[in-house]
Amino acid sequence: SQDNLIETWNQKNVVETLPKRNRYSHKGSHGKGLVIGGSHTMPGSVAMTAKAALRSGSGLITVGTVQEAIPSIASYCMEATYISFLSNEGIITGLPAIDFSSYDALAIGMGMGRSESTASITKKVIVDAKIPILIDADGLQHIKGDLPLIKQRQHPTVLTPHPGEMAMLTGYSVKEILTSPFKVSKQFAREHGVYLILKGVHTIISDPNGRQWVNTTGNAGLAKGGSGDVLSGILLSMMMQNQSLNDALTNGCFIHGASADILVSEQRSKQDLVATDVIDGLTSVFRTLI
Ligand code: APR
Ligand code: MG
Repeated sequence: SQDNLIETWNQKNVVETLPKRNRYSHKGSHGKGLVIGGSHTMPGSVAMTAKAALRSGSGLITVGTVQEAIPSIASYCMEATYISFLSNEGIITGLPAIDFSSYDALAIGMGMGRSESTASITKKVIVDAKIPILIDADGLQHIKGDLPLIKQRQHPTVLTPHPGEMAMLTGYSVKEILTSPFKVSKQFAREHGVYLILKGVHTIISDPNGRQWVNTTGNAGLAKGGSGDVLSGILLSMMMQNQSLNDALTNGCFIHGASADILVSEQRSKQDLVATDVIDGLTSVFRTLI
């Protein structure tokens, strides 16, 4: 039945739906994004998310993170601007006044750590930000007991769990999730009104209506710390750039995996590939697709 239809998303679909830059594009036409996360011991997370977003066509990216991590992140990500968050022992403790409406989308949670302060900041952002948001990594840990807050949002929410995080969110075991990934993710997306990206060898994208796609790009070279942070940046960028959210998310997953596939076939190996290579590999992907 229609209810069990699972769609694949191929290169032709991406080429048809990817936002194009025209001769009259300016940075405002390609969106402004905000990345919130990071900590003294995990500065690389938001650095990779921001860089991946910048390498995926974003007009402007701002990073909100702990004050002490800004110099190291900024030296890798010079194109971004920064908002300095108060911190204690390297963890974000305070949310400065931010006009969320001046951004097209935001991503939160990467490398943020799991403290009471990061939990309450995550919840405050979920309530206050009247824009599409993506929640990843530690941000997912913080929303577990507060899923009704997400259901009440009037703007789209995208969650990007790996199977372990999906287990934490649902109460199912990882084994149960891997046995019935389509069923579990469709049920969760519908029940909580979210766009759900269940990451894995074949990443499954579900929308709040229960429509589902499966991504076929990517390889085991991505089984490394940081690959998920890069995916979050690509997805954020796609979410910001004037297209349907379903197209944005399916395109983002395709592009992330395609970058790793091209790198492994032409330049690197599954062994040595690291997450920042996947950002560099975006060049080949976009040159092929646009
Ligand atoms: N084949 C294809 N794709 C793969 C494979 C594989 N064998 N292994 C991993 N991937 C892809 C996944 O689909 C996903 O897009 O790599 C990405 C891995 O994402 P995460 O599991 O979130 O990894 P990571 O970047 O290390 O996460 C960083 O966030 O999730 C927390 O606990 C995690 O603290 C860590 C941080
Ligand atoms: Mg992750």
